[in-house]
Amino acid sequence: MASRYSVAGLGKLGVSMAAAIASRGFDVIGVDVNRRTVDLLSAGHAPVQETNLEETIAANRERLRATLSHREAILNSDVTFVVVPTPSDERGAFSLQYAAWAFREIGRALAEKDGYHNVVLTSTVLPGSTRYGLLPILEQESGKVCGRDFGLCYSPEFIALGSVIHDFLNPDFTLVGEFDERAGSVLEACYAEIVLNNPPCRRMSLENAELTKIALNAFVTTKITFANMLAGLCERIPGGDVDVVSDALGLDRRIGRQYLTGALGYGGPCFPRDNVALSFIARALGYEASLAETTDQVNRSLAGKLAERLRSFVRRGDTVAVLGLAYKPYSHVVEESQGMYLARALAALGVRVVGYDPLANQMACHELTDKVVVLESAASCLQQANAVVITTPDPEFRALQASDFPQKNPQVVVYDCWRILREEFESASHVRYIPLGIGIDDEGNSARLKALWGNDQPAEKIAE
Ligand SMILES: NC(=O)c1ccc[n+]([C@@H]2O[C@H](COP(=O)([O-])OP(=O)(O)OC[C@H]3O[C@@H](n4cnc5c(N)ncnc54)[C@H](O)[C@@H]3O)[C@@H](O)[C@H]2O)c1
Repeated sequence: MASRYSVAGLGKLGVSMAAAIASRGFDVIGVDVNRRTVDLLSAGHAPVQETNLEETIAANRERLRATLSHREAILNSDVTFVVVPTPSDERGAFSLQYAAWAFREIGRALAEKDGYHNVVLTSTVLPGSTRYGLLPILEQESGKVCGRDFGLCYSPEFIALGSVIHDFLNPDFTLVGEFDERAGSVLEACYAEIVLNNPPCRRMSLENAELTKIALNAFVTTKITFANMLAGLCERIPGGDVDVVSDALGLDRRIGRQYLTGALGYGGPCFPRDNVALSFIARALGYEASLAETTDQVNRSLAGKLAERLRSFVRRGDTVAVLGLAYKPYSHVVEESQGMYLARALAALGVRVVGYDPLANQMACHELTDKVVVLESAASCLQQANAVVITTPDPEFRALQASDFPQKNPQVVVYDCWRILREEFESASHVRYIPLGIGIDDEGNSARLKALWGNDQPAEKIAE
């Protein structure tokens, strides 16, 4: 049974995995090409921001060390998780550039190593990448044969930023793509000792595992997009309420309530690119993943449509405040965030935009042009704004009170994408409160339905 691990790539996922494995009593060597990352971990500090990471590293310092040398990491461990970036390339595929570099280094180290070593790729890759893109590098650099001299697995993690350590240690299932039986058995035994909740382990070919990983994200994003479509429909129904519909729908066990809350769309470093990659691999294999393509297109259209809608509420020179610039609450990540897309789309329409996020202000400043002014508090935004959009259900925004929104003439429009202030505004009329996914124009919505179904239609129309 392996008890010594190494983790190549100490970024948002890798360093949390390293700390989590160490917290289960195993020796872990982290290796990274970034000296600052290695220095920070060596000094007992978290190189990235993640829930409980600093504490977990501090509590397990004697079992956790970091190096710039792949050789040192491989020679002093039995299993290596490779968690390096696989950025999207211009085709929408996941680039193997960093992984190839890491595999070259690992291969060279394997050449010097006696005994069996299991190499586990954790980075997200497309089907065929592990076997045809990376395995040849390991064999060439090591002069050894996969299956005989070393093992190879593809084993992604299903974690969310902000709860990486918890998710890694408590997965719904572990996924083991294996080159052969031995490599898979070694990894399954490792997980059995590392994870806390005794989850099922699914073992399969490398390619099936590679597909399972992106299929999971593609499915979840399709579900989110379905909920967003329902929200749009509810806005056009008298008394329409997406939460009422979703709460009922979610009771069906085939569907479930998670990820069914209609709102503004998904974002972040993983979800958006996985549908694009799925579409790419389908096309490359002579098939069309039109569902994934549509999900992606719909999701990318949401911020622009919302910007157009908001423009109809504001006059020339007015200011729109975007509250929420990270892609989700408790996050400093602004990559592909709907709040950022919305701020940019509004600015492109000539609207003055101010923005605020409890954690992501600094990142947002780096990314946004000077057309969007990032302010130091929600209160400053509300002071300046003629319209306010709440893009994430952040606790700080949930805690806002109706009295925090100044009375102005004309009334300030408050567009609440997650309906988090619905109760608060129930009895407040000094602003125009618009909850996304709720039918607020009963008269117009009723009139349209009446025109469609009412008995006063001409007979030939009904016959159609
Ligand atoms: N972050 C997530 O939520 C998440 C979730 C699931 C899967 N993933 C996947 O995990 C992989 C890593 O993601 P991340 O968010 O941790 O990336 P990241 O950019 O935060 O970190 C990657 C780390 O790898 C290091 N690195 C690059 N080349 C290296 C090499 N040759 N050897 C050693 N270290 C090297 C970098 O210096 C960096 O510290 C990606 O494929 C990503 O798609 C990420």
